[in-house]
Amino acid sequence: MARKKAAARATERSLFGITVLKAADHRVRRLKQEHEPSIHGNKVWNSSWVVIDFLEYQGLPRSAHVMEVGCGWGLVGIYCARRYEAHVVGVDADAAVFPYLQLHAQLNGVQIETRCRRFEELSTADLSGHDVLVGTDICFWDEMTEPLYRVVAEAMGQGAQQVIIADPGRPPFTRMADRCVAELGAEVKAWEVEEPIRASADLLIVGSLPRTRAR
Ligand SMILES: C[S@@+](CC[C@H](N)C(=O)[O-])C[C@H]1O[C@@H](n2cnc3c(N)ncnc32)[C@H](O)[C@@H]1O
Repeated sequence: MARKKAAARATERSLFGITVLKAADHRVRRLKQEHEPSIHGNKVWNSSWVVIDFLEYQGLPRSAHVMEVGCGWGLVGIYCARRYEAHVVGVDADAAVFPYLQLHAQLNGVQIETRCRRFEELSTADLSGHDVLVGTDICFWDEMTEPLYRVVAEAMGQGAQQVIIADPGRPPFTRMADRCVAELGAEVKAWEVEEPIRASADLLIVGSLPRTRAR
């Protein structure tokens, strides 16, 4: 029993107060036998830590409504739910990512709603009612630029206070970000994390949150 617990711990990490499983963890390996994500949602991507670190710095109003698009394993949303009691919806085109998201939600003691939708399919109704929209490593193919620009613009048009999207600087992301700067008054910040994990990315930030933030 003690040996089993020690083995589980070796494949678990605690980062920013949330528990994350490595690919070698037996629970992840068991899920892989039945659910094989097919659009790169097979792990936690590094830009997640960059957005989480930025949210540690900036804060988030308690109980905010957050939508995470292209959520994969959903660690940013899980962090928002755990740290700021956010109400989170995780959206992904690939339903195979949701068992991994729910495994992590359960491990971290939070509830996350999920929706299987492509960016292109997100309706005005889907994009309303969220205070913050986040996405990490989601703009990597040319055909993603246009639908993601529309998602960002429409979320802001529907009353979101802030959109944060992180990427290591792939050309489709840069094109989308440049358009958000030109047309939506967005900014792009280079953000580096040293601790508890090294990661860096460009952050596209549209809008800002009120100063009544939970820290
Ligand atoms: C590189 S992974 C990043 C996952 C997660 N955001 C992270 O940082 O760990 C890209 C995610 O976007 C999802 N995705 C790809 N194309 C999509 C689309 N057109 N609409 C919605 N989700 C999409 C994939 O299924 C995958 O989960």
